[in-house]
Amino acid sequence: MLKRNKVTIIGAGHVGATAAQRLSEKEISDVVLIDIASDMPKGKALDLSEAAPIYGYDSHLTGSASYEDTANSDIIVITSGIPRKPGMSRDDLLRVNAKIVKEVTAKAAEKSPEAILIVVSNPLDAMTYVAHKVSGFNKERVIGMAGVLDAARFSAFLSMELNVSVENIQTLVLGGHGDSMVPLPRYTTISGIPVTELLPKDRLDAILKRTRDGGAEIVKLLKTGSAYYAPSAAIIEMIESILKDKKKILPCSALCTGEYNVKDLFVGVPVKLGNRGIDQIIQIQLTTEEEARLKSSAMTVQSLCKIVDEVL
Ligand code: LAC
Repeated sequence: MLKRNKVTIIGAGHVGATAAQRLSEKEISDVVLIDIASDMPKGKALDLSEAAPIYGYDSHLTGSASYEDTANSDIIVITSGIPRKPGMSRDDLLRVNAKIVKEVTAKAAEKSPEAILIVVSNPLDAMTYVAHKVSGFNKERVIGMAGVLDAARFSAFLSMELNVSVENIQTLVLGGHGDSMVPLPRYTTISGIPVTELLPKDRLDAILKRTRDGGAEIVKLLKTGSAYYAPSAAIIEMIESILKDKKKILPCSALCTGEYNVKDLFVGVPVKLGNRGIDQIIQIQLTTEEEARLKSSAMTVQSLCKIVDEVL
C-alpha cells in the first residue's frame, strides 16, 4: 500500500497555521498541527478541514498537543518560539527560543527518527544548530528556512521598483538570516538580464538594505508579531521540493563543513533539496568581498551558537 505523506508543523501560531493552510491546499501531504495549547491547534485543524470541501482538497488535518500524533512524519517544521516585538532583534530571542526549540526537537525527533527537519524559529541559523545538535540527525536532514524568504523579499522589491513580473526575477541571498545576510546582486537577473543593467547603484543599494531589514519592516507595521504569509510560502516551496524530489536549488541554512570556507556552522548557502533532504550544497564563485561578508555572517552565527551551548 502506498503511504500518504505526513508533515508535522510544530507551533500553531500565524506561521504554523498559515503553512498548514498552504500545505493542505496543495494536497501534497497530510498535516499535523502541534501546539502546547491543546484546543487551539484542534480548532485550527478543524476549521481547515471544513474549508476542504469548498477548496476541494483531501489532505487530512489533525490538531493536537500530543507528540504521539506526529509519529512517522516525513517532514517536521519547527515554528515554535516567541516572535519579535518592535525594536527587538532576532538575537534577543536567542536564549528563550533555544530552550523551546530544544524541547520540541527532542520530542519530535523521538517519534519520527527518519524525518527531515525544517527549522523556522529565530534566530534562525542558531535554532537550526540547536535542532541538529538535539536531534542527532545527519546534516542532510536538518535545514533552516531563511534564504527563500529573504530572496522572495528581494524579488518583491525589485518587481515593485521595475514594474515587472515577479516571475521574471531570480535572486540569491546567502549568509545568516539577520542583519548580516548577504544578498547577491551579481547573481540577480530579470529575465536573464543582470539587475545592474536595469537599476542604478543607489536604487539597488536601497533595495538591498530594505531586503536586509525586511523582517523588521513587517514587525514594525504589525506591532503584535512578525511576518507569516511570506515565511509560510517559503516553507511550502522547500517542502514541495523535498516531497516531490524536485531537486530545486534554494538558499537554505545548512551545516557547512568546509564549503565556502565555513566550518561546522549553519549558514545560508544554495542547496539542492530532494527527498533525502539536502542533496548537495552548491558552491558558486564569490568575489573576495562577497566571501568575506559570508564569512563574517558565519562568525555572527558562531557567536550565537556559543551562547546557545550554555542553554543546551
Ligand atoms: C522575518 C522573521 C520571521 O524575517 O525572521 O520575517
